Amino acid sequence: MATTTTPPPTKADAAAAFARGLEGIIAGESAICSVEQGKLIYRGYEIHDLAAHATFEQVAFVLLEGHKPSADELKRFTGELIAERALPEPVVNFLLSSGPMLKAGTAVPMDILRTSVSILGNLDKESQDNSAAANLRKAKRLLAKTPTIIGHMQNVIDGKDLIGKKTGGDASLSHAGNLLYLMTGQKPSREFEHVMDVSLILYAEHDFNASTFTSRVIAGTLSDMHGAVTGGIAALKGPLHGGANEMAMEMLKEIMRDVGEKGIGTRAVDDWMQRAFDTKRKLMGFGHRVYKNGDHRAPILHKLGRSLAAGDTKNPGGHAAVKWFELGEQVQKIMLEKKNIHPNVDFPCGLTYFTMGIPVPQYTPIFVASRMSGWCAHVSEQHANNRLIRPLSLYTGPAEMKW
Ligand SMILES: CC(C)(COP(=O)(O)OP(=O)(O)OC[C@H]1O[C@@H](n2cnc3c(N)ncnc32)[C@H](O)[C@@H]1OP(=O)(O)O)[C@@H](O)C(=O)NCCC(=O)NCCS
Repeated sequence: MATTTTPPPTKADAAAAFARGLEGIIAGESAICSVEQGKLIYRGYEIHDLAAHATFEQVAFVLLEGHKPSADELKRFTGELIAERALPEPVVNFLLSSGPMLKAGTAVPMDILRTSVSILGNLDKESQDNSAAANLRKAKRLLAKTPTIIGHMQNVIDGKDLIGKKTGGDASLSHAGNLLYLMTGQKPSREFEHVMDVSLILYAEHDFNASTFTSRVIAGTLSDMHGAVTGGIAALKGPLHGGANEMAMEMLKEIMRDVGEKGIGTRAVDDWMQRAFDTKRKLMGFGHRVYKNGDHRAPILHKLGRSLAAGDTKNPGGHAAVKWFELGEQVQKIMLEKKNIHPNVDFPCGLTYFTMGIPVPQYTPIFVASRMSGWCAHVSEQHANNRLIRPLSLYTGPAEMKW
């Protein structure tokens, strides 16, 4: 019997389904994450449950290895990450040379991180092997090394000796705790480590967001994992995506500069916001392509960050940290009342990392230290069941002409 094949959609069918920015379009299948207005799920586990009961290492295992780890599996996985934390010498040398680029402003930390990850690929013995087993090994190496890149870069910015150059940090510390240690040289408090850990859980995965989709498009050509996540970092940098956590804090600093500490809670903030609305300015850390009634992750981090700020009498930026949350809450209230737009996770993230004294240009790189797990899971999934991702465009150029 002759088999019938479904003909590919005509250009007219495709044009009828067109949506700018692929809004509302299902662009592939995935068993990794489900993002819906009602729930955010990583491989069957709901985000509030994970934030309350799991560690980042457990979540990374779930994403990369596909199931909840047993105690032995977690021990093995954590040991593998710790063993892979130190950086190869060429990456260390590149980071040591990055100071002038960062100082000149021709590069920002996300660019330095992107190049460092790309160099890791050039040095990885398995870089050209797209098998599932090699992908998993590479994913663990990438995940383990990202905090070390961020830490060394911050040490260079601060003019300090590299912390953990030989070891990649302190083996007694978690991914979250070690990240803070590598950046500062000080073991973080349990509270700081916990808040960082939860923020990493919240950032780990989010289905076909722009950077993950970028990584999948690259992987879909059967290109390699390091290349795919290097592209992911470039996509995450943008202020409409991960870069929003830095921009949200910069915006709050701008409001604080303009209205002063005494202006918090007064009409001065409303007036500032009205001017922003009048000039059609996009307020960073607000809005979302999928979540139109609020981002599940934002209240979880806001609550933790606020309690950290309330207990912290230190003065980041010259004001008690809790003032920044008060300002942020007022901004959120005005956005909701006037625009019906909710904060996304990047808004409380900016406030929380600021409370922890983390330099603003490292907020998005820290996002990478988490999302690396999600990207690598997606690259592996794409390779395991590949079909080239090649959409069409709606031509808007001139009609055919004679040359
Ligand atoms: C995330 C984002 C790109 C989603 O965009 P989107 O799905 O294309 O939403 P739209 O731009 O269509 O927004 C719908 C309306 O809300 C407005 N809006 C959305 N986010 C806004 C924001 N952050 N500030 C001000 N207005 C906003 C839009 O201007 C638009 O208004 P209009 O209909 O009068 O033109 C967008 O909300 C944004 O730019 N947010 C700021 C950056 C950010 O925080 N990114 C991190 C996302 S996790």
